[in-house]
Amino acid sequence: MLTTSPIKSILHLPLRVLLLILDSDVLSYQDILACKQVCKLLRRIIDGTPSLQYKILLAATGMDDMKTYSLSAAKKLAKLRQYEAAWADLFSPRPYKSSIPILGEPGWEFFGGVFAQFLDEHTIQFIRPRFHIRGVKEDMWALSLSLSLSSFYMDPYQDLLMVVVCDEGLHCLHLLDIHTGSKHALAKMQRLLIPADEDADFEINSFGNKVVMLIRWEEEELPRSRLAIWDWQLGIPILVRVIYCLLRHSYVSALQIYDNSPDLDGKIGTDYVTFTFLDSDRIVFSVCDYTPRRGFQNGRLVVIDLALGSHAFSDALTFQLPELADDCRISELTLFRKCSLATPAAGTCRVPFRGSQEKAAIFIHYSISNVSTGEAEVITIVLPTCKLLFLCDEYGSASASQDVPRAVLWDLWGPKNTRALVNLDAEYQAVFGTRLLCVQDDYVTLYDFNHLGALSDLTLSLTRCMGEDDDCDPLKLATQFKSPSTIKSKMLAQELTTTLPYRVLSTGMMYDESHTLMFSEDTVIIMNDTNKENVVYSI
Ligand SMILES: *[C@@H]1O[C@H](CO)[C@@H](O)[C@H](O)[C@H]1NC(C)=O
Ligand SMILES: *[C@@H]1O[C@H](CO)[C@@H](O)[C@H](O)[C@H]1NC(C)=O
Repeated sequence: MLTTSPIKSILHLPLRVLLLILDSDVLSYQDILACKQVCKLLRRIIDGTPSLQYKILLAATGMDDMKTYSLSAAKKLAKLRQYEAAWADLFSPRPYKSSIPILGEPGWEFFGGVFAQFLDEHTIQFIRPRFHIRGVKEDMWALSLSLSLSSFYMDPYQDLLMVVVCDEGLHCLHLLDIHTGSKHALAKMQRLLIPADEDADFEINSFGNKVVMLIRWEEEELPRSRLAIWDWQLGIPILVRVIYCLLRHSYVSALQIYDNSPDLDGKIGTDYVTFTFLDSDRIVFSVCDYTPRRGFQNGRLVVIDLALGSHAFSDALTFQLPELADDCRISELTLFRKCSLATPAAGTCRVPFRGSQEKAAIFIHYSISNVSTGEAEVITIVLPTCKLLFLCDEYGSASASQDVPRAVLWDLWGPKNTRALVNLDAEYQAVFGTRLLCVQDDYVTLYDFNHLGALSDLTLSLTRCMGEDDDCDPLKLATQFKSPSTIKSKMLAQELTTTLPYRVLSTGMMYDESHTLMFSEDTVIIMNDTNKENVVYSI
């Protein structure tokens, strides 16, 4: 409106007004980066403004700002740079040795930055190593429970501890407060019940008020699975399929469960192997079919949307995994995703920033073997959560309108959204957020699959050399992989080309088979199974 040249008039605005515009929530980091290209003045302003630099670095590092944590943008920026530099240089400073003995046996769990282990049949000990840069102190406590413990699940972000007790044909999930051991304040019911099967495996996961339990067992040589989803706060089931054979237990008849009954005549079983939440309503499963003659085949991801209620499974979206060669079968198909899940309530936020849930990667272990020789190959397929959610929106709306089958072939979604890697040692690895820590050529190696690869180039050159002295060891620089890579395997029906950018950093830390690796947002724990001297690297 002012003149014929809008750019010129924007630059004539007072600096204060320009800053207000650039720093508004409306502008994304992409917009800010685009503005930098416009002219020297804007570039100088953006480079010199901590809040804008912070916004760009958050995107580049796959982090979310915690708005309820009050600290100036300049200080948050400094902390985030320090945090990234510490990850790139994880094992070189003196490791922080935890004074707390980690037993390694008989059972433990490391999740949400809290390590928990059984001290005996009735006692669980919890250890939270310090997060130095984000400012959380070390903490340790133990709970002695009157229950006889066989297994537990925890969600430290919600102070939730679920103790699983198997008794008389039932799994009983006790909903406890992780600090006090008494009933969790938000839980209306003390316990949740689900029928148990002898020798069944189970997996539990939670997101906010939802908790999911997947139970798997074998029956007449076919894989069977059962899924229960509850609102643990209200104590009521969310998903919805009654198993009639269980009605004789009057006390569980009200429990609504999804059961994928195998087709016994055709002898085809559908195996729901593992699952993870994508957001508060969507859950992705790794799934394959089983026939006694051909073994496990037809690997795929199945995404259900709980908002669809009883249609969640009938309207699920399916994303096919790469097709196998004729004489091959799937020997394992598991997926992993770990990140901080619950949104901290205002006032309780203890950290300035944390890993973004949307960018957290889904790591799929696709293990294939030759039917006649047993020769096996593990392909790790990495897919960022936000890309899968985007695919769900895209194909979900398309199939709703055109009545097309809801199965998407690998070629349509895989190559441009994932990265497939071969022979990452599946046994010695751990994942958190966008990162995978594994052992390669005897060294602990860090992979980072933040899909904003180009952007991290831009900002990493800042973060890499942020140390007090500016001599940067070039060997420590992460290697960037941005071009497509192709896997040629006899066991696949066709070549596998994938494109998701990633970085690899060899830490220079030797590792042998007697160790166990664990890590979370701020901590790497290496349990030395030989001498029981465990090292906690915490940043
Ligand atoms: C599987 O093993 C058999 C026997 O060694 C071999 O002939 C066949 O080519 C192998 N198939 C694949 C896909 O590797
Ligand atoms: C683990 O313990 C063994 C035996 O004491 C020792 O040789 C090895 O160096 C230890 N590993 C680490 C990483 O400290």
